[in-house]
Amino acid sequence: MSAHRALPLILALVAAAPACFPKGWPPPEAPLYLERTSPFDVGPYLVMLAPGRMAVVLEHDLPEPPRISWRTATTPLGERTALEIDGLWVATLEGLPLDEPLSYQVSSAAGNVGPVAFRAGRSRGQRFSFAAFGDTRTGHDVHRALVAAMAQEPVELVVHSGDLVETGGVAAQWALFLQIEEPLMAGRPLLAAVGNHDNSQRLHYRRYFLADAVAEGNRYFYQDWGDLRVIIMDSEVEARRGSEQYAFLEAALRDGAAKDMIMVLSLHYPPYSSGAHGSTLELREVLGELAPRYGVELVLAGHDHNYERTKRIDGVTYMVAASGGAPIRRVRPSWFSAAVRTEPHFVIFDVDKKSLVGRAVNLDGETFDSFVIPPNPPRPDFELESVVPPAPARRVATSGGVR
Ligand SMILES: [Fe+2]
Repeated sequence: MSAHRALPLILALVAAAPACFPKGWPPPEAPLYLERTSPFDVGPYLVMLAPGRMAVVLEHDLPEPPRISWRTATTPLGERTALEIDGLWVATLEGLPLDEPLSYQVSSAAGNVGPVAFRAGRSRGQRFSFAAFGDTRTGHDVHRALVAAMAQEPVELVVHSGDLVETGGVAAQWALFLQIEEPLMAGRPLLAAVGNHDNSQRLHYRRYFLADAVAEGNRYFYQDWGDLRVIIMDSEVEARRGSEQYAFLEAALRDGAAKDMIMVLSLHYPPYSSGAHGSTLELREVLGELAPRYGVELVLAGHDHNYERTKRIDGVTYMVAASGGAPIRRVRPSWFSAAVRTEPHFVIFDVDKKSLVGRAVNLDGETFDSFVIPPNPPRPDFELESVVPPAPARRVATSGGVR
């Protein structure tokens, strides 16, 4: 066919092209139907300020501040008008008893919420559970399913290893993240590390997670819950020796070791990872020395959208638990792998005396990795010889295929 005779056919095909695609293509950013019970744009959700001190946060255009009341099962404890802070309604609940089931209620012109069950912390020696996951980003349906599954577990707090959203500068994505998280975050504080996708000059993380109150405006902090100390690092800012974050980290670890805490450290970039991005050697240099020296039991990371638990390396278990919605990726085990897997998942940890009893769970509710992380006694004289230890023969305990 000559060019001039083919032209009408080409034009007709181009004109018909949209009909070749499914209706609604390209898909909108948030294609899910989100069934919410809250009358507010965002929240209410909890932000942990300290053991026994919680903030109830919500976002909504209201003619007057909402009222928040809270109580034990038998006794009213307090009532407070929320303050407006940076466009959010925030009520700080202080002097809360540890180890007790509590609840709060929100009343406002837009509607009421509650009672919402929560806890304000644990005293030493108590048994409890927490959950960990990461890299939620664009997979809203997977994120929602994981949240629903975690909400069925008796977890009292949740750790997110970063990349909560796809584009950190877009406020709507943070609102959607928090809406999906409502079944968990209404009654359980989320301790979130910041990921590379969360970074933005618009400071949405800082605003929604009350970083000014929690961490003096930083995105690194720690919280204690019973025998557990969770240290959240910011792998988007300098962490090497001489930096402010390094000084914070060493002080938090030294104090935690002196108090004989179980220490879990969470950050976005993994010091050890067999995934697509691989290990971040700069952070391995920092944590490979400090974690054994102060007896960190577990380093939880994200960024690689897979699951990996390492063997204990100088006493420390490193984990990537980061298939919370972002596209899952294949992972091939390395010499340091104890278990690898590619499918959406979360991890439940039972804090039992001085051990962490863990199980990684998929969307079918199947446990695909079970493990016990024993206490890791501090080694005050430990010095890291090299960030790249000699590799023994490849060996791996378990593996899974792409689902
Ligand atoms: Fe990332």
